[in-house]
Amino acid sequence: MNRNAATRFAILPLALIAAVVAVGCGSSDTGGSGDGKSLTIYSGRDEEYVGPLIETFKQENPGTEVDVRYGDSAELAATIREEGGQTPAGIFFSQDAGALGALQEAKLLKQLPSSILDRVPSAFRSAQGDWVGTSGRVRVLGYDSRSLAPSELPKSVFDLTEPRWKGKVGWAPANASFQSFVTAMRLTEGEAKTKEWLEQMKANGTRSYEKNGIIRDAIADGEIEVGLINHYYVLEAIKEGEADGDTYPVKIHFFTDGDAGTLINVAGVGIPEASKQQKAAEEFASFLLADPQQRYFAKETGEYPLVKGIPQDPSLPPLSSIKQPQLDLSDLSDLQGTQELLQETGVL
Ligand SMILES: [Fe+2]
Repeated sequence: MNRNAATRFAILPLALIAAVVAVGCGSSDTGGSGDGKSLTIYSGRDEEYVGPLIETFKQENPGTEVDVRYGDSAELAATIREEGGQTPAGIFFSQDAGALGALQEAKLLKQLPSSILDRVPSAFRSAQGDWVGTSGRVRVLGYDSRSLAPSELPKSVFDLTEPRWKGKVGWAPANASFQSFVTAMRLTEGEAKTKEWLEQMKANGTRSYEKNGIIRDAIADGEIEVGLINHYYVLEAIKEGEADGDTYPVKIHFFTDGDAGTLINVAGVGIPEASKQQKAAEEFASFLLADPQQRYFAKETGEYPLVKGIPQDPSLPPLSSIKQPQLDLSDLSDLQGTQELLQETGVL
Protein backbone atom coordinates (compact mmCIF):
# COMPACT_ATOMS: atom_id res chain seq x y z
CA MET A 1 0.00 0.00 0.00
CA ASN A 2 2.70 2.46 1.05
CA ARG A 3 5.07 1.36 -1.67
CA ASN A 4 2.28 1.79 -4.18
CA ALA A 5 1.54 5.29 -2.93
CA ALA A 6 5.21 6.23 -3.05
CA THR A 7 5.56 4.93 -6.59
CA ARG A 8 2.51 6.79 -7.76
CA PHE A 9 3.69 9.98 -6.17
CA ALA A 10 7.06 9.60 -7.86
CA ILE A 11 5.37 9.64 -11.26
CA LEU A 12 2.94 12.49 -10.59
CA PRO A 13 2.73 14.61 -13.71
CA LEU A 14 4.32 18.03 -13.53
CA ALA A 15 0.98 19.76 -13.91
CA LEU A 16 -0.31 18.12 -10.74
CA ILE A 17 2.85 18.97 -8.82
CA ALA A 18 2.40 22.58 -9.94
CA ALA A 19 -1.22 22.50 -8.77
CA VAL A 20 -0.23 21.05 -5.39
CA VAL A 21 2.43 23.72 -4.93
CA ALA A 22 -0.02 26.46 -5.93
CA VAL A 23 -2.68 25.27 -3.47
CA GLY A 24 0.01 24.73 -0.84
CA CYS A 25 0.96 28.41 -0.92
CA GLY A 26 -2.32 29.60 0.50
CA SER A 27 -3.10 26.65 2.68
CA SER A 28 -1.24 27.08 5.95
CA ASP A 29 -2.93 28.40 9.05
CA THR A 30 -0.83 31.51 9.15
CA GLY A 31 0.41 31.78 5.59
CA GLY A 32 -1.24 33.14 2.51
CA SER A 33 -2.25 36.70 1.90
CA GLY A 34 -3.70 38.86 4.63
CA ASP A 35 -4.44 37.50 8.08
CA GLY A 36 -6.97 34.86 6.98
CA LYS A 37 -6.94 31.11 7.42
CA SER A 38 -7.66 28.59 4.69
CA LEU A 39 -9.53 25.32 4.77
CA THR A 40 -9.63 22.80 1.94
CA ILE A 41 -12.41 20.26 2.48
CA TYR A 42 -12.32 16.97 0.61
CA SER A 43 -16.00 16.07 0.69
CA GLY A 44 -17.32 12.61 -0.09
CA ARG A 45 -20.77 13.95 0.71
CA ASP A 46 -22.79 15.52 -2.06
CA GLU A 47 -22.99 19.27 -2.41
CA GLU A 48 -26.77 19.00 -2.44
CA TYR A 49 -26.71 17.86 1.20
CA VAL A 50 -23.71 19.60 2.74
CA GLY A 51 -23.35 22.69 0.54
CA PRO A 52 -25.75 24.72 2.71
CA LEU A 53 -23.82 23.73 5.86
CA ILE A 54 -20.53 24.79 4.34
CA GLU A 55 -22.12 28.14 3.39
CA THR A 56 -23.15 28.63 7.02
CA PHE A 57 -19.63 27.79 8.16
CA LYS A 58 -18.24 30.41 5.77
CA GLN A 59 -20.64 33.05 7.08
CA GLU A 60 -19.68 32.27 10.67
CA ASN A 61 -15.97 32.27 9.83
CA PRO A 62 -15.46 35.17 7.43
CA GLY A 63 -11.69 35.09 8.02
CA THR A 64 -11.38 31.55 6.69
CA GLU A 65 -11.11 30.94 2.99
CA VAL A 66 -12.97 27.71 2.30
CA ASP A 67 -12.40 25.55 -0.71
CA VAL A 68 -14.29 22.27 -1.35
CA ARG A 69 -13.41 19.33 -3.56
CA TYR A 70 -16.37 16.97 -3.98
CA GLY A 71 -15.95 13.32 -4.95
CA ASP A 72 -16.56 9.73 -4.01
CA SER A 73 -15.50 8.99 -0.41
CA ALA A 74 -13.36 5.93 -1.19
CA GLU A 75 -11.68 7.73 -4.09
CA LEU A 76 -10.95 10.83 -2.02
CA ALA A 77 -9.39 8.64 0.70
CA ALA A 78 -7.21 7.01 -1.97
CA THR A 79 -6.25 10.47 -3.25
CA ILE A 80 -5.20 11.58 0.25
CA ARG A 81 -3.05 8.46 0.45
CA GLU A 82 -1.43 9.09 -2.88
CA GLU A 83 -0.83 12.76 -2.16
CA GLY A 84 0.86 11.83 1.11
CA GLY A 85 2.71 14.72 2.73
CA GLN A 86 1.71 17.02 -0.12
CA THR A 87 -2.04 16.71 0.25
CA PRO A 88 -3.86 20.03 0.06
CA ALA A 89 -6.69 18.47 2.10
CA GLY A 90 -7.19 20.24 5.40
CA ILE A 91 -10.03 17.91 6.41
CA PHE A 92 -11.76 14.87 4.93
CA PHE A 93 -15.56 14.73 5.19
CA SER A 94 -16.49 11.15 4.39
CA GLN A 95 -19.85 9.67 3.58
CA ASP A 96 -18.97 6.46 5.39
CA ALA A 97 -16.77 5.14 8.17
CA GLY A 98 -14.94 2.68 5.94
CA ALA A 99 -13.04 5.36 4.02
CA LEU A 100 -12.00 6.98 7.33
CA GLY A 101 -11.00 3.56 8.68
CA ALA A 102 -8.77 3.02 5.65
CA LEU A 103 -6.89 6.26 6.39
CA GLN A 104 -6.68 5.38 10.09
CA GLU A 105 -5.20 1.99 9.18
CA ALA A 106 -2.56 3.71 7.02
CA LYS A 107 -1.80 6.02 9.98
CA LEU A 108 -2.70 9.04 7.87
CA LEU A 109 -5.00 10.86 10.31
CA LYS A 110 -4.21 13.23 13.16
CA GLN A 111 -5.46 12.67 16.69
CA LEU A 112 -8.61 14.71 17.38
CA PRO A 113 -9.05 16.66 20.62
CA SER A 114 -11.34 15.14 23.23
CA SER A 115 -13.58 18.23 23.07
CA ILE A 116 -14.57 16.98 19.58
CA LEU A 117 -14.50 13.22 20.20
CA ASP A 118 -16.57 13.39 23.37
CA ARG A 119 -19.51 14.94 21.55
CA VAL A 120 -20.55 11.52 20.19
CA PRO A 121 -20.93 8.03 21.72
CA SER A 122 -17.87 5.81 21.42
CA ALA A 123 -19.53 3.45 18.93
CA PHE A 124 -19.62 6.27 16.39
CA ARG A 125 -16.02 7.42 16.48
CA SER A 126 -12.58 5.93 16.04
CA ALA A 127 -11.38 3.86 18.99
CA GLN A 128 -7.98 5.46 18.35
CA GLY A 129 -9.44 8.97 18.39
CA ASP A 130 -8.55 9.98 14.87
CA TRP A 131 -11.96 10.30 13.22
CA VAL A 132 -15.42 11.18 14.45
CA GLY A 133 -18.91 10.48 13.14
CA THR A 134 -21.06 13.51 12.37
CA SER A 135 -24.39 11.83 11.44
CA GLY A 136 -25.80 8.30 11.37
CA ARG A 137 -27.36 6.31 8.55
CA VAL A 138 -28.96 2.94 9.02
CA ARG A 139 -29.32 0.11 6.54
CA VAL A 140 -32.95 -0.98 6.43
CA LEU A 141 -35.42 -2.94 4.38
CA GLY A 142 -37.76 -0.65 2.47
CA TYR A 143 -41.10 -2.39 1.88
CA ASP A 144 -44.42 -1.93 0.16
CA SER A 145 -46.91 -1.37 2.95
CA ARG A 146 -49.83 -1.92 0.54
CA SER A 147 -48.93 -5.58 0.09
CA LEU A 148 -47.03 -6.43 3.27
CA ALA A 149 -48.10 -6.27 6.91
CA PRO A 150 -45.33 -5.68 9.44
CA SER A 151 -45.82 -9.26 10.72
CA GLU A 152 -44.94 -10.65 7.28
CA LEU A 153 -41.55 -8.97 7.12
CA PRO A 154 -38.33 -11.01 7.34
CA LYS A 155 -36.58 -11.01 10.72
CA SER A 156 -33.14 -11.23 9.14
CA VAL A 157 -31.52 -10.19 5.89
CA PHE A 158 -30.70 -13.90 5.51
CA ASP A 159 -34.42 -14.71 5.15
CA LEU A 160 -34.50 -12.87 1.82
CA THR A 161 -33.07 -15.95 0.10
CA GLU A 162 -36.35 -17.83 0.73
CA PRO A 163 -38.71 -18.66 -2.18
CA ARG A 164 -41.28 -16.19 -0.74
CA TRP A 165 -39.02 -13.34 -1.89
CA LYS A 166 -38.08 -14.69 -5.30
CA GLY A 167 -37.82 -11.78 -7.76
CA LYS A 168 -39.31 -9.41 -5.18
CA VAL A 169 -36.13 -7.89 -3.72
CA GLY A 170 -34.08 -4.96 -4.98
CA TRP A 171 -30.46 -4.12 -4.15
CA ALA A 172 -27.78 -1.75 -5.46
CA PRO A 173 -24.49 -3.68 -5.68
CA ALA A 174 -22.48 -0.71 -7.02
CA ASN A 175 -23.61 1.61 -4.23
CA ALA A 176 -21.12 2.48 -1.48
CA SER A 177 -23.61 2.04 1.38
CA PHE A 178 -24.56 -1.39 0.07
CA GLN A 179 -20.90 -2.35 -0.15
CA SER A 180 -20.28 -1.20 3.45
CA PHE A 181 -23.16 -3.40 4.55
CA VAL A 182 -21.58 -6.39 2.76
CA THR A 183 -18.28 -5.57 4.47
CA ALA A 184 -20.14 -5.60 7.80
CA MET A 185 -21.60 -9.00 6.94
CA ARG A 186 -18.13 -10.36 6.12
CA LEU A 187 -16.90 -9.11 9.51
CA THR A 188 -19.78 -10.43 11.58
CA GLU A 189 -20.72 -13.63 9.70
CA GLY A 190 -17.51 -14.51 7.88
CA GLU A 191 -16.48 -14.75 4.22
CA ALA A 192 -18.06 -18.14 3.49
CA LYS A 193 -21.53 -17.28 4.80
CA THR A 194 -21.50 -13.90 3.05
CA LYS A 195 -20.49 -15.50 -0.23
CA GLU A 196 -23.25 -18.08 0.11
CA TRP A 197 -25.80 -15.35 0.86
CA LEU A 198 -24.77 -13.34 -2.19
CA GLU A 199 -25.02 -16.43 -4.41
CA GLN A 200 -28.41 -17.41 -3.03
CA MET A 201 -29.76 -13.88 -3.38
CA LYS A 202 -28.66 -13.85 -6.99
CA ALA A 203 -30.21 -17.27 -7.60
CA ASN A 204 -33.42 -15.96 -6.02
CA GLY A 205 -33.75 -13.34 -8.74
CA THR A 206 -32.81 -10.30 -6.66
CA ARG A 207 -33.01 -7.28 -8.94
CA SER A 208 -30.12 -4.86 -9.28
CA TYR A 209 -30.63 -1.12 -9.35
CA GLU A 210 -28.18 1.71 -9.69
CA LYS A 211 -28.85 3.28 -6.33
CA ASN A 212 -31.00 3.47 -3.21
CA GLY A 213 -33.43 6.11 -4.44
CA ILE A 214 -34.27 4.05 -7.52
CA ILE A 215 -34.94 0.98 -5.39
CA ARG A 216 -37.31 3.05 -3.27
CA ASP A 217 -39.17 4.26 -6.36
CA ALA A 218 -39.36 0.70 -7.73
CA ILE A 219 -41.11 -0.32 -4.49
CA ALA A 220 -43.46 2.66 -4.75
CA ASP A 221 -44.23 1.66 -8.35
CA GLY A 222 -45.02 -1.90 -7.30
CA GLU A 223 -42.15 -3.34 -9.36
CA ILE A 224 -40.61 -5.05 -6.32
CA GLU A 225 -41.91 -5.59 -2.80
CA VAL A 226 -38.83 -4.90 -0.71
CA GLY A 227 -35.35 -3.42 -1.13
CA LEU A 228 -32.10 -2.93 0.77
CA ILE A 229 -31.64 0.82 1.24
CA ASN A 230 -30.55 3.50 3.73
CA HIS A 231 -33.28 4.68 6.09
CA TYR A 232 -33.38 8.33 5.01
CA TYR A 233 -34.43 7.70 1.39
CA VAL A 234 -38.02 7.21 2.45
CA LEU A 235 -37.98 10.43 4.49
CA GLU A 236 -36.53 12.20 1.45
CA ALA A 237 -39.38 11.02 -0.78
CA ILE A 238 -41.96 12.16 1.75
CA LYS A 239 -40.25 15.54 2.09
CA GLU A 240 -40.00 16.08 -1.67
CA GLY A 241 -43.32 14.61 -2.70
CA GLU A 242 -46.96 15.38 -2.27
CA ALA A 243 -47.62 12.42 -0.03
CA ASP A 244 -47.24 12.65 3.70
CA GLY A 245 -45.79 9.90 5.84
CA ASP A 246 -49.14 8.18 6.24
CA THR A 247 -50.00 7.89 2.58
CA TYR A 248 -46.55 7.21 1.09
CA PRO A 249 -46.56 3.45 0.39
CA VAL A 250 -42.90 2.68 1.15
CA LYS A 251 -42.12 2.09 4.82
CA ILE A 252 -38.91 1.03 6.49
CA HIS A 253 -38.20 -2.08 8.50
CA PHE A 254 -35.28 -2.60 10.87
CA PHE A 255 -34.03 -6.17 11.13
CA THR A 256 -33.67 -7.54 14.64
CA ASP A 257 -30.79 -8.96 16.69
CA GLY A 258 -27.59 -7.39 15.46
CA ASP A 259 -28.32 -8.25 11.84
CA ALA A 260 -25.75 -6.95 9.33
CA GLY A 261 -28.79 -5.70 7.38
CA THR A 262 -29.28 -3.10 10.11
CA LEU A 263 -25.76 -1.70 10.08
CA ILE A 264 -25.53 1.79 11.55
CA ASN A 265 -22.86 3.53 9.52
CA VAL A 266 -21.78 7.14 9.93
CA ALA A 267 -20.68 10.05 7.83
CA GLY A 268 -17.76 11.69 9.59
CA VAL A 269 -14.55 13.67 9.49
CA GLY A 270 -10.84 13.10 9.94
CA ILE A 271 -7.89 15.45 9.64
CA PRO A 272 -5.11 14.16 7.37
CA GLU A 273 -1.78 13.74 9.15
CA ALA A 274 -0.24 16.08 6.58
CA SER A 275 -2.93 18.77 6.96
CA LYS A 276 -1.44 22.21 7.38
CA GLN A 277 -4.83 23.60 8.38
CA GLN A 278 -5.34 21.82 11.68
CA LYS A 279 -6.91 24.74 13.53
CA ALA A 280 -9.46 25.54 10.82
CA ALA A 281 -10.13 21.83 10.38
CA GLU A 282 -10.87 21.39 14.08
CA GLU A 283 -13.16 24.42 13.92
CA PHE A 284 -15.07 22.79 11.05
CA ALA A 285 -15.33 19.47 12.92
CA SER A 286 -16.63 21.28 16.03
CA PHE A 287 -19.08 23.19 13.85
CA LEU A 288 -20.54 19.96 12.40
CA LEU A 289 -21.04 18.59 15.90
CA ALA A 290 -22.60 21.76 17.31
CA ASP A 291 -26.33 21.60 18.06
CA PRO A 292 -27.62 23.63 15.05
CA GLN A 293 -25.76 21.46 12.53
CA GLN A 294 -26.85 18.27 14.29
CA ARG A 295 -30.42 19.54 13.97
CA TYR A 296 -29.78 20.24 10.29
CA PHE A 297 -28.87 16.58 9.71
CA ALA A 298 -32.01 15.42 11.51
CA LYS A 299 -34.26 17.78 9.61
CA GLU A 300 -32.70 18.29 6.19
CA THR A 301 -31.00 14.99 5.37
CA GLY A 302 -33.17 12.72 7.54
CA GLU A 303 -30.05 11.23 9.11
CA TYR A 304 -29.57 10.48 12.78
CA PRO A 305 -27.89 13.22 14.79
CA LEU A 306 -25.12 11.68 16.91
CA VAL A 307 -24.92 14.28 19.65
CA LYS A 308 -26.87 13.53 22.79
CA GLY A 309 -30.05 15.53 23.30
CA ILE A 310 -30.65 16.33 19.63
CA PRO A 311 -33.86 14.56 18.53
CA GLN A 312 -34.02 12.52 15.34
CA ASP A 313 -36.95 12.72 12.90
CA PRO A 314 -40.02 11.83 15.00
CA SER A 315 -41.05 9.04 12.62
CA LEU A 316 -37.85 7.12 13.35
CA PRO A 317 -37.08 4.88 16.32
CA PRO A 318 -34.30 6.19 18.60
CA LEU A 319 -30.83 5.14 17.52
CA SER A 320 -30.26 3.49 20.89
CA SER A 321 -33.17 1.11 20.23
CA ILE A 322 -31.68 -0.27 17.01
CA LYS A 323 -29.78 -3.50 17.53
CA GLN A 324 -26.76 -2.91 15.34
CA PRO A 325 -24.16 -5.59 14.62
CA GLN A 326 -21.21 -5.62 17.01
CA LEU A 327 -18.26 -4.21 15.13
CA ASP A 328 -15.73 -1.40 15.08
CA LEU A 329 -16.78 0.93 12.26
CA SER A 330 -13.11 1.52 11.38
CA ASP A 331 -13.00 -2.13 10.31
CA LEU A 332 -15.31 -1.36 7.38
CA SER A 333 -12.14 -0.29 5.57
CA ASP A 334 -11.75 -3.41 3.41
CA LEU A 335 -13.82 -2.14 0.51
CA GLN A 336 -11.57 -3.86 -2.00
CA GLY A 337 -12.18 -7.28 -0.46
CA THR A 338 -15.93 -6.67 -0.71
CA GLN A 339 -15.76 -5.53 -4.32
CA GLU A 340 -13.73 -8.63 -5.18
CA LEU A 341 -16.33 -10.86 -3.53
CA LEU A 342 -19.16 -9.09 -5.39
CA GLN A 343 -17.33 -9.65 -8.65
CA GLU A 344 -16.46 -13.26 -7.85
CA THR A 345 -20.12 -14.04 -7.18
CA GLY A 346 -21.24 -12.20 -10.32
CA VAL A 347 -23.31 -9.74 -8.26
CA LEU A 348 -21.29 -6.79 -9.54
FE1 LIG B 1 -27.12 8.18 0.29
